[in-house]
Amino acid sequence: MFSALKEQPKDKILALMQMFKDDPRQQKIDLGVGVYKNAHGNTPIMRAIKEAEKKLWDVQDTKTYVGLVGDMDFSDVMVDLLLRDTLERGAIASAATPGGTGAVRQAFELVKLANPNARIFVSEPTWPNHLSILKHVGLEILNYRYFDGTTRSVDHAGMIEDIAQAKAGDIVLLHGCCHNPTGANLSLFQWQQVIDSLLETGATPMIDIAYQGFGDGLEEDAEPTRLVVKSVPECIIAASCSKNFGIYRERTGVLLLTVQEQSIKGISQGNLAYLNRQNFSFPPDHGARLVTMILKDARLKSDWQNELEEVRISMLSLRRQLADALTKASDSDRFRFLADHRGMFSRLGTTSDKVDMLREKHGIYMVDDSRINIAGLNAKTIPILANAIIECGI
Ligand code: LMR
Repeated sequence: MFSALKEQPKDKILALMQMFKDDPRQQKIDLGVGVYKNAHGNTPIMRAIKEAEKKLWDVQDTKTYVGLVGDMDFSDVMVDLLLRDTLERGAIASAATPGGTGAVRQAFELVKLANPNARIFVSEPTWPNHLSILKHVGLEILNYRYFDGTTRSVDHAGMIEDIAQAKAGDIVLLHGCCHNPTGANLSLFQWQQVIDSLLETGATPMIDIAYQGFGDGLEEDAEPTRLVVKSVPECIIAASCSKNFGIYRERTGVLLLTVQEQSIKGISQGNLAYLNRQNFSFPPDHGARLVTMILKDARLKSDWQNELEEVRISMLSLRRQLADALTKASDSDRFRFLADHRGMFSRLGTTSDKVDMLREKHGIYMVDDSRINIAGLNAKTIPILANAIIECGI
């Protein structure tokens, strides 16, 4: 029967990861997959995670099942981290999921259960896996304009015009902060206009937030999500702990549904549990438990916040250094946008041919849409990248 299987499209980010691994050149530079790396090119385990793991080894005395939506303490700390006191806890249904991707997948399945005819409005561009999962789940995808290729900032007028086409029963998928792949983000004022549009059309927002703490700060990055949640009757939030806790392989994420009526919360919560059971039964616990331990312990939490802030500041500094190096190398201001973008990524805004050239001639790896992972750089590689960009005529 397996001979009937068709070849599936490769995930371009993961395919690039493999290509980089297979490249024997010593001087290669990996600006591909969105994984944080320090100046030595390592992805360290955060101090608070190490400490929580040690403690967990001492105190944990069973590995029996927890619950279909995970441990409620994990949901509570995540609600607090994302929403603080924006809403009553009673107005939020929640489920732990295998990573942020798991939350995205469960969210789309939930939308399909609620309204199989829902149309999902996604930014052009968006994280490629959004599109892939939507296709797999069988939901209709519509693009809204997002990135202005000339200014390398948000095409806000285009975005507002396009999301105005959504209607009640549709979903508008938004990146909570640190837009992936462009690095261009909405101002709070622009978020308010998105909210006005949602209120007018009745479409439901879904916020994917995978980089809280990587942009302008832990609280600042959650501000747009909080603004949306308190303004609209219902919202879907898919959040990841992979990046801000550095626990990629532990698959730790949460799906939240904010609702207005208690009766709707009950049915929503039941559907989240049902979907978990159908897809994987119990969500992974290890990463979620570490996150819970950290966020419930004032000392561990403060150490985690400090380290996360170090990571954020180091990425900001790399952005500025790269923008400066390119200003010098190009003798122009046309790369200043790199310093204005936020999060792990920036889209350079060049053709896939030039991206191929950078890879083949200089061993510099980036996604074919010219997305670079800023954290893949260091003081030594910044001038190499800047010169290569100019040499390739970008
Ligand atoms: C990325 O965009 O590179 C990350 O979110 C990793 C992934 O799973 O694609």
